Amino acid sequence: MRVLLASLTLISTVLTAPSVVAQKVQLSVDVSKAGTKIDRNIFGQFAEHLGHGIYDGIWVGPDSTIPNTRGIRNDVVAALKELKVPNVRWPGGCFADEYHWRNGIGPQRAVTLNPNWGGVIEPNTFGTHEFMDFLDQIGAEAYVSVNVGSGTPHEAADWLEYMTTAQPTTLAKERAADGRPAPYKVGYLGIGNESWDCGGNMTPEYYLDQMKIYSRFVRNYNPEQQDRQKQMLKIAVGPGGGEPRWTEWTEAIMKAYQQHTWSWDINGLSMHNYTVVKWPPSYTSVGFGETEYAQILKSTLDMDDLITKHSAIMDKYDPEKKVALVVDEWGGWYAPLPGSNPGFLVQQNSLRDAILAALNLNIFARHADRVRGANIAQMINVLQAMILTDKEKMVVTPTYYVFKMYVPFQDSTFVPVTFDVGTYTHADIRLPRVDAIAAKGKDGKLWLEVTNVDPNEPVEIELNLAGITAKSAMGETLTAPKVDSINTFDAPNTVVPKPISAKIQGGKLTLQLEPKSVTVVVVEQ
Ligand code: AHR
Repeated sequence: MRVLLASLTLISTVLTAPSVVAQKVQLSVDVSKAGTKIDRNIFGQFAEHLGHGIYDGIWVGPDSTIPNTRGIRNDVVAALKELKVPNVRWPGGCFADEYHWRNGIGPQRAVTLNPNWGGVIEPNTFGTHEFMDFLDQIGAEAYVSVNVGSGTPHEAADWLEYMTTAQPTTLAKERAADGRPAPYKVGYLGIGNESWDCGGNMTPEYYLDQMKIYSRFVRNYNPEQQDRQKQMLKIAVGPGGGEPRWTEWTEAIMKAYQQHTWSWDINGLSMHNYTVVKWPPSYTSVGFGETEYAQILKSTLDMDDLITKHSAIMDKYDPEKKVALVVDEWGGWYAPLPGSNPGFLVQQNSLRDAILAALNLNIFARHADRVRGANIAQMINVLQAMILTDKEKMVVTPTYYVFKMYVPFQDSTFVPVTFDVGTYTHADIRLPRVDAIAAKGKDGKLWLEVTNVDPNEPVEIELNLAGITAKSAMGETLTAPKVDSINTFDAPNTVVPKPISAKIQGGKLTLQLEPKSVTVVVVEQ
């Protein structure tokens, strides 16, 4: 009899026990502590004239057999609309400091070169009006980077007058003759790009002298943008890392800002930080294993230290946090795909990139008081892209899905979360096992994101929610069979979100998270 009972117990254990016992994590959220706004602009995109980022990726021309609206791909627009892209930074990057806007307007476009990116022909068929049309189609704001490196304040001032004035000036009449009588809005003005490097190798002092002139004279005249609330925000070039030359750069700009007079101003300081581990980029974007997965994710977490370091400098000169830190280039930068033009920065986008994106977005959210803008590099076909295209084919990447899942966090209110991060260990690499953020959405609901970094072990999250009585939680989770799983034109659904819901166990909500997964749920009361 005893043997029979033991056997029955064994059978029932075998039938009910999960194959791997999930690590348990208590996660506590107190909605009454909701605080800083998570600015939707941290979900910004970056589209440079680089490789197939613009041409083929966005622009196919009105005569293309690929379905388009005034030359802009319909499939790409439809996909991007789902992301509610807040702003797009354009035309570069390094390209911006060699861009002359007059080449990109009017019926006859100058054919120029793109010396930064493969030395290819730049047809200039995608210029100011095409960019604005694209923004209009996807519902995003313009973040225009003006040419400080090889341009002049006069050229940039004219460009802004051409785009924004409602008065019947010669430039406004030219804009109307080019097909746009009404002024455009320009939400953000980038004053140069990496001016310490590809933007002209300037010292902080030289850049500051230039930047003040651009800040003074490059004006936005749009009548609808004259209120303080709607004014164009000017973003100065900031650091590209944590080394002394960049902390000195941030010191110099912010010290000058503290002493600025009525005649110039900035509203943001740019920061660029790629996850690359070593230069030149040599990690592959697909066909890697757990070691490269762990190394890249460990490296990406340096973003937090970098923001903390530069925020501390900014706090010294701007304790009221009037100047935003705008991480307007970030993402994974890997070796170019074999056979591609190395100047085109073509790489695949895997589940690892989805997790990398979630970790970075969470870092930005935790620094929401200072980080009020960020632009992932880059939107289409370049670096850590949302979308890959090949002629008429298009596929959305794992990173795309993370941005889609995070839409409810746009302009939400950050709610602190406490949890034991645990440790995921691979060889000598140690990483926090779990990451999470919570926020009160614009819909008034509590949204929660939890990332399980561990590629081998599931996690069981037990939610302790103070301030609300939760009935359920449901949403989506993104994972895939392997750390380097990708979506391809032939197999576009390898890394796609699937529904998930929290179960009530013992009166508590519990979420079962798969290994290497990103999960977003909304709590229903
Ligand atoms: O995103 C690619 C390049 O990286 C940008 O043009 C430049 O700003 C940065 O160095």
